[in-house]
Amino acid sequence: MTTPTIELKPSSTPVSAKEREAVLASPGFGRHFTDHMVTIRWTEGRGWHDGQLVPYGPLALDPATTVLHYAQEIFEGLKAYRQPDGSVALFRPEANARRFQASARRMAMPELPVETFLDACDALVRQDIDWVPAHGGEESLYLRPFMIATEAGLGVKPANEYLFVVIASPAGAYFPGGVKPVSIWLSEDRVRAVPGGMGDAKTGGNYAASLLAQAEAAEKGCDQVAYLDAVEHKWVEELGGMNLYFVYGDKIVTPELTGSLLAGITRDSLLSVARDLGYTSEEGRVSIDQWQADTANGTLTEVFACGTAAVITPVGTVKSARGEWTQSDGAPGEVTMKLRDALLDVQRGVAADPHGWMHRL
Ligand code: PLP
Ligand code: COI
Repeated sequence: MTTPTIELKPSSTPVSAKEREAVLASPGFGRHFTDHMVTIRWTEGRGWHDGQLVPYGPLALDPATTVLHYAQEIFEGLKAYRQPDGSVALFRPEANARRFQASARRMAMPELPVETFLDACDALVRQDIDWVPAHGGEESLYLRPFMIATEAGLGVKPANEYLFVVIASPAGAYFPGGVKPVSIWLSEDRVRAVPGGMGDAKTGGNYAASLLAQAEAAEKGCDQVAYLDAVEHKWVEELGGMNLYFVYGDKIVTPELTGSLLAGITRDSLLSVARDLGYTSEEGRVSIDQWQADTANGTLTEVFACGTAAVITPVGTVKSARGEWTQSDGAPGEVTMKLRDALLDVQRGVAADPHGWMHRL
């Protein structure tokens, strides 16, 4: 695979420092974008080429472009954090690059070399470094690399042309309420993914498939949906955009990777962070019956969700057709918050990084 260089074509009309500061004072999530983006093309027979760092702006697509019809699309999400010395570091970008390759294989798309993925993220963050929020809080610069099929035509087949793009957005808290427990609607009939399907790929279709259940959750007064496996409707898998952890005293358990849930990088990191803190961590199977019964008998002490955008978010109320219950009296649990602080400390560069996760620019 060839690794294209990225040619710089800087914006002549970047956002003013004053406007940028106003955005950074309250960034929200995914509402504002930086001045530039990276684009790299792939063409059959030629491979990756034409890498550019250009002003952020609209993409022109033929109405027959296949991604608009058959959804051949994948994406990633990762964060850049301002370090105490003012430098910037990305959290585990190689892991995102490898997952992007795995998603590409599943969706019959070309694999982007890991170093090209890293070069593209680094180039964008370097160019728009003033958009990385200050050190100290939880804010970060969220990077959204994605790839779409760009061949025009209505035949159903893998496209012969693709576009890889990286955009960046300053990010505050994903849930506007800050660290307060989220309520979960446990969907026993709608499924997110099926065995042999694409649940373990980070592809737009999985999110489109989750929106109706998410709207139903909102109608029930819940923030998020938890999905069960599609065969037995029994085993807990994940939320629409986050993995789940169950805390049993000093042991944390996360649903094993069955192929129908996303291999979250936060999930993977927490298996290690928990061990570093002296907890036991494991992957296993948790059934809906167990979730309810172990909460009632007090052995399941906390539940939390985790992902790049949301970091770690405690689960408070759980509602389902079988009833409603509350985890850890609806307050953020102690283990949840210890893990959250430990992970954020590594990301913000105020704790040692024993696993070599931070990628400095
Ligand atoms: N599960 C789904 C469906 C997601 O979209 C995400 C977010 O990326 C996650 C889990 C968490 O993954 P990560 O920790 O890599 O962000
Ligand atoms: C992330 O956590 O990066 C996600 O992609 C979740 C959501 C915003 C889709």
